[in-house]
Amino acid sequence: MNPPSNTAPVELQPPPLDVVIMAAGKGTRMKSRLPKVLHRLAGRALLQHVTDTAAGLNARSCVVITGHGAPEVEAKIGHLALGYTGFSMKCVRQEPQLGTGHAVQQAVPVLADDGVVVVLSGDVPLIAADTLRALIEACAGQSLALLTIEFADPTGYGRIVRSGAGWAGDDIVGSVENAAPVVAIVEQKDATEAQRQIREVYSGIMAVPARLLKGWLAQLDNRNAQGEYYLTDVVKFAVADGVPVLAHCIDDPLQVAGINSPQQLAELEREYQARLARSLMEQGVRLADPARLDVRGNLRCGQDVDIDVNCIFEGAVQLGDGVRVGAHCVIANATIAAGAVIHPFTHIDGEKAGVQVGEGALVGPFARLRPGAQLGAGVHIGNFVEVKNSTLAAGAKANHLAYLGDATVGERVNYGAGSITANYDGANKHRTVIEADVHIGSNCVLVAPVTIGAGGTVGGGSTITKDTPPGALSVARGKQLSIAGWARPVKKA
Ligand code: UD1
Ligand code: CA
Repeated sequence: MNPPSNTAPVELQPPPLDVVIMAAGKGTRMKSRLPKVLHRLAGRALLQHVTDTAAGLNARSCVVITGHGAPEVEAKIGHLALGYTGFSMKCVRQEPQLGTGHAVQQAVPVLADDGVVVVLSGDVPLIAADTLRALIEACAGQSLALLTIEFADPTGYGRIVRSGAGWAGDDIVGSVENAAPVVAIVEQKDATEAQRQIREVYSGIMAVPARLLKGWLAQLDNRNAQGEYYLTDVVKFAVADGVPVLAHCIDDPLQVAGINSPQQLAELEREYQARLARSLMEQGVRLADPARLDVRGNLRCGQDVDIDVNCIFEGAVQLGDGVRVGAHCVIANATIAAGAVIHPFTHIDGEKAGVQVGEGALVGPFARLRPGAQLGAGVHIGNFVEVKNSTLAAGAKANHLAYLGDATVGERVNYGAGSITANYDGANKHRTVIEADVHIGSNCVLVAPVTIGAGGTVGGGSTITKDTPPGALSVARGKQLSIAGWARPVKKA
């Protein structure tokens, strides 16, 4: 290794990054009271997809332009900001909404001059960080870089006009292929018939030095077919100033797909899920049907995981080696250890506290694990059994129709059908402790706080209100009475 020296070349720091997200538009076609950017894709608000991506770029700040539904959108941003570090989030209102150029103008007072600005849309959720990095690299702190894509049907989009573009015989000259310089973006409604033939369109995403952007924004006017201040007009100002305009053309339409309607939202969701399913299968996960899987969060799988049809995974879920998940399970915020089997129709949601399922445990069918359920190795939880904030040590079993809430259950305990912990006195929650090797009969009520001593047995139908000694049989129910020769009533004539 070389010792540090004064003559070593200094690495040039790239300029800081500031992200502007346009999210003031109405979203009329959603026909919803919820602001468009708050609708969910794969379990996250459209806007959150964009802010998560921005945060992943190591941006310095993020400015969200709000307008329609501003209070709700701003509340969401306030909430999201808590989850990011080293990344300041601000909201700026745009009222009324006079176009995309007008939207970005609102951000000018809060944008520093020394940065590169990346302009994104809150309703284009799947733009990839890698694509933005390439765009920022193309901008290089000095050019205007536009993210573009070629569409077979470019209707409705702003067309990328390259120098010389126009009719030349049967061809449009100036194309992505010959990389002629970009001279303008022309909106559909302002385009000539020849320009409408251009298939390269502006995605709505650009990277541009803040200093240059501010100067150009100050020159915008609304003399166009829509009477709007177009952000896309910055291109002609860049050309006039001799600033290079670069088009970074990608070929993945998913990344630039905007959401305007419930149909588009559903289509993008399916495409997103299809890609996710493919990537899980590439890792070796066996999906009974990749088209019948929904992951709304982060699913991590070990080797030889099998997932049957119609399962939904939410939040952070981890499936260990050899885990099998039956059909129609909903599993959220849970860690399932190796070899465990989750039988069909099981609902698991750890929320904040999480759920842990131990190695080789069997859960379901029709089981419900709630926050704080911690099952040890080989635990069995059968049909219609609910477990909340309870620890079950290795080998414990609750196989039928039971409730365990706020309980500590020892190893090898057998918890009978229909038994419950009465953990709530109407005001406070109390704990039930069931020590190792206890056998709880059917239909028992364990009134907490109470401890069942190790190795003890509780007779079926007992209501237990006092601690029981280890090794004892405890029975707490009306004594059985038999009346000899009992004559049943007979029906009157
Ligand atoms: C814009 C581009 C077009 C591009 C297309 C890609 C302009 C003038 N045109 O057109 O070249 O092909 O995106 O999808 O920029 N918004 C505001 N305030 C406003 C207007 C819009 O915040 O006053 C927001 C919208 O909520 C949306 C984004 O800006 O998130 C884009 O607006 P939209 O109306 O969809 O732009 P297009 O007309 O489709
Ligand atoms: Ca528009």
